[in-house]
Amino acid sequence: MTLPDFYRDDLRRLEQASRRRTLAPRSGRDFSSNDYLGLARSEQLREAAIAALRRGVDLGSGGSRLLRGNTAEHETLEAEAARFFGSEAALFIATGFAANSLLFATLPQPDDLILYDALVHASAHEGMRLSRAPGESFAHNDANAAEDAIRRWRRAGGTGTPWIAIETLYSMDGDRAPIVDFAALAERMDAMLLVDEAHAVGVHGPEGRGLAAALRGRENVVVLATCGKALGCEGALILLPANLRDFIVNRGRSFIFSTAPSPLIAAIVRESLAIIEQADDRRARLQALVVRASRAVAPLGIAPSGSQVQPVPIGDDARAMEIAAALQARGFDVRGIRPPTVPDGTARLRVSITLNTDDQAIDELATALGELL
Ligand SMILES: Cc1ncc(COP(=O)(O)O)c(C=O)c1O
Repeated sequence: MTLPDFYRDDLRRLEQASRRRTLAPRSGRDFSSNDYLGLARSEQLREAAIAALRRGVDLGSGGSRLLRGNTAEHETLEAEAARFFGSEAALFIATGFAANSLLFATLPQPDDLILYDALVHASAHEGMRLSRAPGESFAHNDANAAEDAIRRWRRAGGTGTPWIAIETLYSMDGDRAPIVDFAALAERMDAMLLVDEAHAVGVHGPEGRGLAAALRGRENVVVLATCGKALGCEGALILLPANLRDFIVNRGRSFIFSTAPSPLIAAIVRESLAIIEQADDRRARLQALVVRASRAVAPLGIAPSGSQVQPVPIGDDARAMEIAAALQARGFDVRGIRPPTVPDGTARLRVSITLNTDDQAIDELATALGELL
């Protein structure tokens, strides 16, 4: 049998639309990673890995959490994470993508409604595809639009629970959600709040506990804190009421039927949490770089996002990729972001500010951008 034409044809279609992706080796100065606090390559995490191996922590879990894969490292990490983040319970999952799709697929029930911000991450959409609850999007950051949608649904006979899904700091725009408005809306409408803190944890909030730190521990709040970005490792912690954790352990298919994450990674994430709790100096240094970047891009007519994620709007897919390639050729690892990752017509450069860069590199990048835009 020969390979069906579909695959080659589809790749050609992507090529023609300037949307074909390729894997490239890592090179150039880091303006694209999510290693915001520079922990991924830190001596502290290397030492934590070595120390964990020395004290006998296993590399592989050997099975699902419900079978032999449940280790002391997983349980200790979850207890420490719940304490640190102020939630009743925590559940460690191998990746943020898997955790988000698990949450959306498992928690909302057929009579419920998932209301999601128009810009939520692909992993939330993946979970909604698997969910038995219907989904409806609302305009980005518009709590009034979400309220209208809930009222419409109730008038049309909706009887279950509304689940409102937001991110606290949006991954491709770097802007923040009006969290207080959404929390008040959830209270008012008897709704659950699903809060993705992937880009906020470690960087924002008291001791890096995220932008929604004040909501933790509430019965109607479920938070996703990923460990592969500012925490410099991998995996994700779901922070939630103990009853819901129990429900996922009993009903979450990808939790039940999947090998538990590596105990070694759990041990390293424990160290990441300990580091970020004490990392005010790193956060202050990052904030200074963010201010530097904001000042450097403003004269180019680029609106500063005010966070460590700074988009440079381009619009056209091909042009975004050309400018990214030109920056890469000059030694800046800046990536172009195209649809479907972002909405049609909004291709952009996503400039990520991390502690892997410095003032001089930021100024040089701004100069290069000025020449290329
Ligand atoms: C907002 C958001 N949620 C979830 C994820 C998925 O997390 P992970 O990379 O750990 O799979 C990402 C990853 O980019 C993200 O940006």
